[in-house]
Amino acid sequence: MAERRYSLCATHGFFLLPLLLPFLLSCVLDAAAAAALNKTQDAILRDIERLVNSESANGRWNTADPNPCLWRGIDCSSSGSSVVNITLSNYGISNSSIFDSLCRLDSLQTLDLSRNSLTDLTTQFSSPSCSMKEGLRFLNLSSNQLSSKLSNLLGFPHLEVLDLSSNYFTSGNLSADSGSFPRLKSLNLSSNKLNGDVPTSMVDSLAELVLSGNQLSGSIPPGLFKYGNLTLLDLSQNQLTGTVLDGFKSLSKLETLLLSGNNLTGAIPPSLSNVTTLSRFAANQNNFTGLLHSWITQNVRMLDLSYNRLSGPIPPDFLSHQGLQTVDLTSNMLQGTIPSNFSQSLYRLRLGGNQLVGVIPALICDANGMPKMSYLELDNNDLTGHIPSELGNCKSLSLLNLASNSLEGQVPDQISKLGKLVVLKLQNNKLSGVVPSTFSDLTSLSTLNLSLNSFSGVIPEGIFKLPKLSNLYFQGNKISGAIPASVSSSQFLIELNLGDNALSGTIPTMPTSVSTALLNLSHNNLSGSIPSNINSLSELEILDLSHNDLSGEVPPSLVDLQSLTELDLSYNKLSGSVPIFSKTVDINIIGNPDLVNGTGNNMDTPTTGKRKKLFILIFVIAGALAGLCVLAVIIMLLSKRVYRIEDEGLPVEESVPHIINGRLITMNSIHTSAVDFVKAVEAVSNHQNIFLKTRFCTYYKAVMPNGSTYSVKKLHSSDKIFQIGSQEKFAREIEVLGKLTNSNVMVPLAYILTIDCAYLIYEHAYKGTVSDLLHDGKSDVIDWPSRYSIALGVAQGLTFLHGCTQPVLLLDLSTRTIHLKSTKEPQIGDIELYKAIDPSRSTGSFSTIAGTVGYIPPEYAYTMRLTMAGNVYSFGVILLELLAGKPSVNDGIELAKWALSLSGRSDQREQILDTRVSGTSIAVHSQMLSVLNIALSCVAFSPDARPKMRNVLRMLFNAK
Ligand SMILES: *[C@@H]1O[C@H](CO)[C@@H](O)[C@H](O)[C@H]1NC(C)=O
Ligand SMILES: *[C@@H]1O[C@H](CO)[C@@H](O)[C@H](O)[C@H]1NC(C)=O
Ligand SMILES: *[C@@H]1O[C@H](CO)[C@@H](O)[C@H](O)[C@H]1NC(C)=O
Ligand SMILES: *[C@@H]1O[C@H](CO)[C@@H](O)[C@H](O)[C@H]1NC(C)=O
Repeated sequence: MAERRYSLCATHGFFLLPLLLPFLLSCVLDAAAAAALNKTQDAILRDIERLVNSESANGRWNTADPNPCLWRGIDCSSSGSSVVNITLSNYGISNSSIFDSLCRLDSLQTLDLSRNSLTDLTTQFSSPSCSMKEGLRFLNLSSNQLSSKLSNLLGFPHLEVLDLSSNYFTSGNLSADSGSFPRLKSLNLSSNKLNGDVPTSMVDSLAELVLSGNQLSGSIPPGLFKYGNLTLLDLSQNQLTGTVLDGFKSLSKLETLLLSGNNLTGAIPPSLSNVTTLSRFAANQNNFTGLLHSWITQNVRMLDLSYNRLSGPIPPDFLSHQGLQTVDLTSNMLQGTIPSNFSQSLYRLRLGGNQLVGVIPALICDANGMPKMSYLELDNNDLTGHIPSELGNCKSLSLLNLASNSLEGQVPDQISKLGKLVVLKLQNNKLSGVVPSTFSDLTSLSTLNLSLNSFSGVIPEGIFKLPKLSNLYFQGNKISGAIPASVSSSQFLIELNLGDNALSGTIPTMPTSVSTALLNLSHNNLSGSIPSNINSLSELEILDLSHNDLSGEVPPSLVDLQSLTELDLSYNKLSGSVPIFSKTVDINIIGNPDLVNGTGNNMDTPTTGKRKKLFILIFVIAGALAGLCVLAVIIMLLSKRVYRIEDEGLPVEESVPHIINGRLITMNSIHTSAVDFVKAVEAVSNHQNIFLKTRFCTYYKAVMPNGSTYSVKKLHSSDKIFQIGSQEKFAREIEVLGKLTNSNVMVPLAYILTIDCAYLIYEHAYKGTVSDLLHDGKSDVIDWPSRYSIALGVAQGLTFLHGCTQPVLLLDLSTRTIHLKSTKEPQIGDIELYKAIDPSRSTGSFSTIAGTVGYIPPEYAYTMRLTMAGNVYSFGVILLELLAGKPSVNDGIELAKWALSLSGRSDQREQILDTRVSGTSIAVHSQMLSVLNIALSCVAFSPDARPKMRNVLRMLFNAK
C-alpha cells in the first residue's frame, strides 16, 4: 500500500501539488519511516539506471522516484537498506558493463535480465571477485545474444535456478559445472548452440534439465540416469541418435520427458513403466519402432508418439486408462482396429496416417459421462462402415477429421448436434445420401469439407446462413438442384468450391462485402448468364465457371476485380466479346464458339500470357525491372557452355573432391572467364573458408585465379532424403533455376557435381543474413525503413518465384536463408532445395525436413506437401521477426504462435512491436501496425485463409 501511494506521489504530485498536498505529506512520512538504501547500493543503482536509460530505449524505465527501492523491478530487503531482487526484462539493454555494476551488489538474490540484447559476459562477471554471485539464487539471462562458453560461468555457490535459454552459448568445458553450481535445481539451456554429447556433469540434485533446441548428438548417455531427482527432462529438437537405454527406473520422480525431434531408434524403453510419476511423455518425430504397450498410458496423461515407425495393433486398453488426456499417434504404421474403450478424460485423440481398419467405435464419447473429446482425427486410414451416430454425444467436439478413409452410408443427423464443431472434414470417402439439412445447426462451423464422396440431393439452404462459415468444399459429388439463393447472405466465405457436381439453374446473386478468394462452380449444368454483380466479390482471386451452360455476355464489371489472377470461362455458351482485363489475369475462354476476343485484348497463349503477366508485375510493382522467367530450353542448349572435366585433368589432392561434372549456367562473360571449378572445390576443402551454415547448406568463400571472390555452396548430402543420386535430373533443375533473374533472388552461376556432393557457385556479395542483422547484436538497432525495405525485397523475390511458369517453392525460408547485399537489399537463398531434397524419402516427418523450426506452417505436419501457402506462412514469420525484433523461436515459443495469442486485442498487439523502433515516430508506429496486420494474416492457421504472395506484396506497398 505504502509503495503504491508513494509512486503516485512521484509521478503526479509535482503537477497536482495543491490537490495532493495531504497525500504528499503522508508519502514523505512513509519514506521517512523506512530506512534509506545504503549509500553504496544507492549509487550503484543510479549507475545502472543511467546505463539502462541511455540505451536506445531510453526513458522506458521509470525511475522518477527518489528512492531506488521503489523503482519498478527493484525489490529491497524488508528493512529497505539493501537490494534483493532486480528484474530488468525487455529494456533493450545491450551494454555489458551493467554486469560490472551488478557484481558489486553483494546482497542480490534474484537477477532477471532476460529479453535484452546483451552479447557478452564481462571478465569481471566471470571472475571470483564478482561478489554478487555469492548470494545469488536465481539468474535469468534468457533471450539475449550471449555467445560465451558455458565455462565462463563460474562460482555460484547458492544458485538454484539458471535460465540461459535462447542465447548463443556453446558447450565449452562443462566439467566444472557441479563445482560451480553446487545448489542448482533448475537448468535451462534450450535454444543455444550446444553441440557434442549431452552433458552429465551437473550437480546430482538437479531437478529440471532443459536442453532442447541445440545440436547435441550421440546417444542419450547412461550418466543421465544418475539424476534421480529429475522431474523435468527435455532433450527435444537435437540430433540424438541410437536406442534409448532402459534406465528410467532410477528417475523415479520424473514428471515430464520430452525426446521429440531427434533421430532416436529402437523400442520405447520399458523401464518407463516404473516411473509412476510420469505424466507427460513426448517422443514424436523420431525413428522409434516396435509395438505399443498398454503400460505406456498407464500413468502418462499426455502422450505424443506421432511420426515414428511404431507398428502392430493399439492395445485394447491403451486409450481407456483413467486420467488420460491427450494421445497423438499420427503417422506411424499401426494396424488393426481402434480400441472401443475410451478414458472419460481423453480430449484429444489423433490417429491419422496409420493403417487402421474396421469401424469407428461408437463409444468414443459416453453419453452418460462428461464427454470431453474435443479434437478427434482418424483421417488417412482404412476405416470402413458408417459414421456412428453416437459421435453426436461428443458435445465438446471442435474438430472432427475422418477424411481419406473408406467410410460409407449417410452422415447421421446426430452430427448436427455438435454445436461446438469448427472444422468438419469428411472428404475422400464413399459417403452418400443427402447433405443433412440439419447442418445448419452447426453454428460454430467454419470449415466444411465433403468433397470427393457420393453425396446427392440438393445443397441445404441453411448451410450458407451459418454465421462463421468460411470454407466450403462440396466438389466431386453428385449434388443437384440450384445453388441456394441464401449464398448471398453468407458473411465470411473465403473459399467456395461446388465444382464437379450436377448443379443446375442460374448462378444466384453473390454476397457483397465478403473476402471470397476462390469461387469454383465448374463442371456443373449451370445456365443463364454470369451475374453482373459478381464483381461484389472484390477480393476474388480465382473464378472458375468452366464446363457449364452459361450464356450471354461476359459482364464488363468483371474487369473491376482487382485481385483476380485466374478466370476460367471455358466450355460454356458465352457470346459477345471478352472485356479487356489487366494483363495479370490468366484467362481461358476456349470452347465458347460465339465468344470473341475484345479489341486490343491480351489473350495470348497461356505461357506467354504468364510471362507477360510476370513482366508487368515486376515492372509495375517493383518499379525496376527485376526478372523474367525463361524456360527456353532450346536457347539454353544452344548457348550453354559445357565443361566436362576428366579426372586426369585434376591436381589430385587427397582432400579435394573429384569433380564429375561442372557446368557454367550464366552467360555473363565476367563470370564465365573468372569461375574456376578446381579453385572452387579446393576452397570447399578448407574449413576456414566457411562463412555461413544453414540447415541444409554450407557456404564457402572462394578466391578465383583472377582474384575475384565467389561464394560456393555445398549441399549437405549426408541425409538420404537428398536426391543427389539422380544427378542428371538435378543438373537440369539447376539449369532452369539459373535462368531466373530477380535482384531479390540468389541465382546460381554454375554448379559442380562430385561423386557424393553438389556445389553451387554464386556472386559473393554477402553482408550477413537477415537473422544476423536482427539478432546477432553486433549491429545497432536496425531502423524501421531498413526493416520495411527488407520486407518488401523478400516479398518481391517470393512473388517472383511463385509467379514463374513452374512456380519455385522454398523448402527452407527463414531469416537465415535470406542473405543481405546491404542493410536494405535482401536476397532469397537456397531456392534449389525443393528440387534437391525429397521429403517423402525422409525417415522423419515431413515437418522435420521442411525448413527451420519456427517457420514451418502447422499444416505441413498433416499435408506432407510443400505449398505456396506454406511459404506465405514462413514469410509471415519473417515479417514478425522484423516487427518484433525477436527470433522465430523465443524461449521455446514460436514467434507466430506468440503473436497470434496477442493479436486479439489492440492494446496487446502493441506488445508485439519492437519498442526500440516503434517509438521513433507516429508514422513508423502506424506503418508497423499495418504491416503487423499483414503478418498476422500470413500466419493464419488455415492455409486457405492466408493471402497469396502477390496480394501480400500489394498490401505491403499500401501499408501506411
Ligand atoms: C525476490 O524474488 C523472489 C522470487 O523471485 C521472491 O520470492 C521474493 O519475495 C522477492 N523478494 C522481495 C524482497 O520482494
Ligand atoms: C526467464 O525469463 C523469460 C523471459 O522473460 C521467462 O519466460 C522465463 O520463464 C524466465 N525463467 C524462469 C526460470 O523464470
Ligand atoms: C537416423 O538414424 C537412422 C538409423 O540409425 C539412420 O539410418 C539415418 O540416416 C538417420 N537419419 C538422420 C536424418 O540422421
Ligand atoms: C483470341 O484468343 C485466343 C486464345 O484464347 C488466341 O488464340 C487468339 O489468337 C486470339 N485472337 C485474337 C484476334 O486476338
